[in-house]
Amino acid sequence: MFNLYLKWTENYGLIWCRFLFWKAGVVVLSVDGIKDMFITNGGLYKVQKSSLTYFGGQRFTGYGGLLNNVGGDVWRRKRHALDPAFHKKYLQSLIPKMNEMTRAMIEQLKQNTNANDFIDMDWYMKKSAILLIASIGYGIDLNNREDVSMEQILDSMNDMMDGFFGEAFDPLFLHNPMNRHLTRKTKEAGCLLRRLGHDALKHRRDQIKQNLETPVDLLAHSIRIQENSPWYSDEEVVDDFVTFIVAGFETTSNVMSFVLALLARNPGVSAWAAQEMTDLVEGKQFLDEDDLSEMSYLECVIKEAMRLYPVVSLVRRSTNVDSIIDKHLIPTDTQVMFLPFLQGRLEEIWSEPLSFKPERFLKTESLKKFTYIPFLVGPRKCIGSTFAMNEIKIVVGQILQHFELSAPSDEDIEPEFRITLGPKVGTRLRLRERATS
Ligand code: HEM
Repeated sequence: MFNLYLKWTENYGLIWCRFLFWKAGVVVLSVDGIKDMFITNGGLYKVQKSSLTYFGGQRFTGYGGLLNNVGGDVWRRKRHALDPAFHKKYLQSLIPKMNEMTRAMIEQLKQNTNANDFIDMDWYMKKSAILLIASIGYGIDLNNREDVSMEQILDSMNDMMDGFFGEAFDPLFLHNPMNRHLTRKTKEAGCLLRRLGHDALKHRRDQIKQNLETPVDLLAHSIRIQENSPWYSDEEVVDDFVTFIVAGFETTSNVMSFVLALLARNPGVSAWAAQEMTDLVEGKQFLDEDDLSEMSYLECVIKEAMRLYPVVSLVRRSTNVDSIIDKHLIPTDTQVMFLPFLQGRLEEIWSEPLSFKPERFLKTESLKKFTYIPFLVGPRKCIGSTFAMNEIKIVVGQILQHFELSAPSDEDIEPEFRITLGPKVGTRLRLRERATS
């Protein structure tokens, strides 16, 4: 998958590598290396420029968005100001809305699916994830826009990931006439995202002017930061809009697709997880926050899916200063990489690493610190991890509650790396409605 030339050093500590022939760097996998890279130097190292900042001149997140902000005081202030939007208590208040939106998708699935046909659940997961983050984070209903359809939005996001991947791994991508069509489509995706962000901001300001009640969501936090911070321009609010839509949609939908694909191929695991759901929701309409924390087996399934298929399977940084990483001196301006995909498959950490065994997460005492970090660690760890876990539990939980899943016998799960790791050709599954649903 990754075109890596590896030379192992002792203790799978540092691997010197050449990355796709033209980028030299260091891969860090050891516990001490991860600590040095993400905790000791976590707030110091530069996050690398990527296609997500600017693509061929088109601004996506710019350098203002939280994810691509190079660090330092501006990033620290912004992270501090946005953290409350992801506070556990606040996220609990979003659970009813997440349930309600997922229920609408379940009804749609019941109407549109036929027990004998295979349907692409990856498409449904993408649709569900983007609707949810846009509505909960920014008060936008992407389902009912006059200017653009849901299909156009999802196609646009798909082109964007193809374009980003092309540019990230081919330095001549933007200059190659063969890529002109994809380059144009990718730029159009950037325009669309920024337009949606500007519309949301304008709409919210109008609502505030008219003294209408508005939600305390991500956009409200951005507007509140603006009140005291002249450095936070409208363009930067839109940088964050693009950041949260892309970071919140692409990752979560891919995890949900992998989880469903794995459940469909492992009927024993699926039955156990479905039984857990049945016991939890007995006599209730929806899941509440206690139910989510009691979904211990489904949580193991999700963790195991993220071990085998970590959607963020490559994390890059650039050293700002000469640094010691796992006792090795790494010079300034070196590209340092961490590969969760590789870490999740190391025999030194996992028994039978290629097998899908959710039970391994039932007892995690034997798991060494930093050997499983799908959301990263340190100051730049994922801000949306609890949001994502709540969403995945609600969506997958409700699907399990209402449907039995099966996969085509001749199709394996094939992951594809396109900045994030996702299923290569969608996730074709057959859904049979449960008698009790
Ligand atoms: C299962 C789903 C998710 C996974 C596996 C995941 C994983 C990660 C990882 C590994 C990082 C660090 C990336 C780096 O430093 O290069 C990250 C950062 C980030 N994630 Fe997530 N993420 C998920 C869902 C979300 C959601 C739902 C949101 C927002 C609603 C979100 C927003 C962000 C943001 C803004 C950052 C940058 C944080 C900073 O630099 O301060 N993520 N995520």
